[in-house]
Amino acid sequence: MKQQPTKVAVLFSGRGSNLKTLAEHMAQANVPAELTLALSNRPKAGGLDYCARQGIAHQAIDHKLFESRESFDAELDATLRAAKIELVCCAGFMRLLSAGFVEAWRDRIINIHPSLLPKYKGLHTHARAIEAGDSVHGCSVHYMRPEMDEGPVIVQKQVPIMPEDTPDTLAERVLQQEHIAYPEALDAVLKKMASPA
Ligand code: GAR
Repeated sequence: MKQQPTKVAVLFSGRGSNLKTLAEHMAQANVPAELTLALSNRPKAGGLDYCARQGIAHQAIDHKLFESRESFDAELDATLRAAKIELVCCAGFMRLLSAGFVEAWRDRIINIHPSLLPKYKGLHTHARAIEAGDSVHGCSVHYMRPEMDEGPVIVQKQVPIMPEDTPDTLAERVLQQEHIAYPEALDAVLKKMASPA
């Protein structure tokens, strides 16, 4: 039996392969966390179907129904607090969060980004790494800060860039590493929350 597992929310926007990896990881008996809520800002995100099939509590909060970023973030914040969430994992959550929201969850909100930060913040990271002629690329899990894709790195994984790579083939190689990196990072964060320095 898990002793008071940390209540985790995963925020996502799309197919949810990282959400699935995190859900499977937290389902293991030796991981002191439970996936309490999966939240998408897109009502048609594929990850919601996965949650329904698996019996994972899930919800869509459609950002298009809100008149400002702040009002969407306020609803997100209220939903997370109502569920007594202790840690938020952004996993392909393709929406900028306001500084107030990120500060309110400081050190309790982490994100995965498909590049070796601080390189290639923002979008189209795979195409940009190929375009730059880089020989290595990868992914980073980091604590979130108000500035986009900023914050202390928790785990990074590297992959080679092959001469024949397209953004899609490179994205696939990076994604395999994302699915290793995120559970590792979650374990590290849980450990830190259990015994803060
Ligand atoms: C992942 O590659 C993730 O790193 C990226 O979106 C994808 C989501 O895939 N996130 C970002 O680009 C955030 N800026 P998934 O829905 O299969 O987890």
